[in-house]
Amino acid sequence: MKPIRTAVVGLNMGLYHAHAFSKAERAELTYVVDLDEEKAAKLAEELGCKYTTDWTKIMDEIDAVSFCTPHHLHASQALQAIQAGKHVLIEKPLANSEEECLQLIKAADEHHVKLMLAYVVRYLPAVRKLKEVLDSGVYGQPIHAQGYQLGLLPPMPPQSWFSRKETLGGGVLFSHGCHYIDILLWLFGEPDRVQSMGTRLGTDWLEGEGTAHSTIQFKSGVLGHLVCSWGTKVSQSPGKYHIHTTDALLELSNDMWKLEVIKKDGKDWVRELLYGGPKDDKPIPGGGVRYEINHFLDAIANDTTPETDGRDALLSHRTIWAMYKSEGVPVG
Ligand SMILES: NC(=O)c1ccc[n+]([C@@H]2O[C@H](COP(=O)([O-])OP(=O)(O)OC[C@H]3O[C@@H](n4cnc5c(N)ncnc54)[C@H](O)[C@@H]3O)[C@@H](O)[C@H]2O)c1
Repeated sequence: MKPIRTAVVGLNMGLYHAHAFSKAERAELTYVVDLDEEKAAKLAEELGCKYTTDWTKIMDEIDAVSFCTPHHLHASQALQAIQAGKHVLIEKPLANSEEECLQLIKAADEHHVKLMLAYVVRYLPAVRKLKEVLDSGVYGQPIHAQGYQLGLLPPMPPQSWFSRKETLGGGVLFSHGCHYIDILLWLFGEPDRVQSMGTRLGTDWLEGEGTAHSTIQFKSGVLGHLVCSWGTKVSQSPGKYHIHTTDALLELSNDMWKLEVIKKDGKDWVRELLYGGPKDDKPIPGGGVRYEINHFLDAIANDTTPETDGRDALLSHRTIWAMYKSEGVPVG
């Protein structure tokens, strides 16, 4: 089979996509694209591909494109590529509004192309294992779970797309928390009720909330809680996720490469997964995203639906939009 000709647009986060496409067996990295020509040229030389500053001009030379651009551009760029018959991978979020998400889903259906959200966390080996272990029921029924995504971002200028609510699509919960809300939904199924509170304390450069505490009650009764923050100077989170079942605690490490099962009488099961390769493989750009990239390429080659397709991605976005509407109950 001929390699799938790919392009990556937007070369900050896209740098990782480009490296992963260039290493993937099924793909040929044909183009890297950025408005910053120097950046694109440098990467093209490193990876041995072509470069341009205008992705709309290369549609005849590619089969699939990955958009790693600012959030407010995702919908229009993806729509144009889908209408040109290209398979599309989009960095999260799919789009900043429900209407735009639905438009993309419809267009992908009509043009028979793959539309996939780059939910990188979903495809990491230890996260896959977490779901498998939980679903097996060997540690009983899940009761409640906590997720932690704590970090500190340097302040961005007020006019940057990242600082503004309209272009970012919200605050930290929508922009970064979406990965971790997605994992809670994937693990525990249909949500029943949600609530969330946010604060701008510690992140006053950001128009939306820089810290959010968000809760989901699932239809099964399971409670899931996520704390995410871009304003945490010193973080000592106990892990990325703590999942409490009737028999054990399942702990996914902060770097998401290690899964431990802790029972009352000690550790029952530990599995360390480091990129499926040697430890020093870890810093290579594209290392973590290669799983999602391979999933996208497999979906194209085998004509299957990507797990995080448009419909699936919309569930996590809808959950967050409902959280943003929840206001809490005033005291007194
Ligand atoms: N999965 C993750 O953990 C993760 C981490 C960081 C960023 N991201 C996602 O990646 C995307 C990009 O984020 P970022 O932090 O790299 O943004 P950024 O603003 O740092 O970089 C965006 C790049 O896109 C380029 N660009 C903008 N418009 C373009 C256009 N029309 N054509 C070509 N190039 C264009 C810019 O020149 C810039 O180099 C976002 O969707 C973000 O949420 C994901």
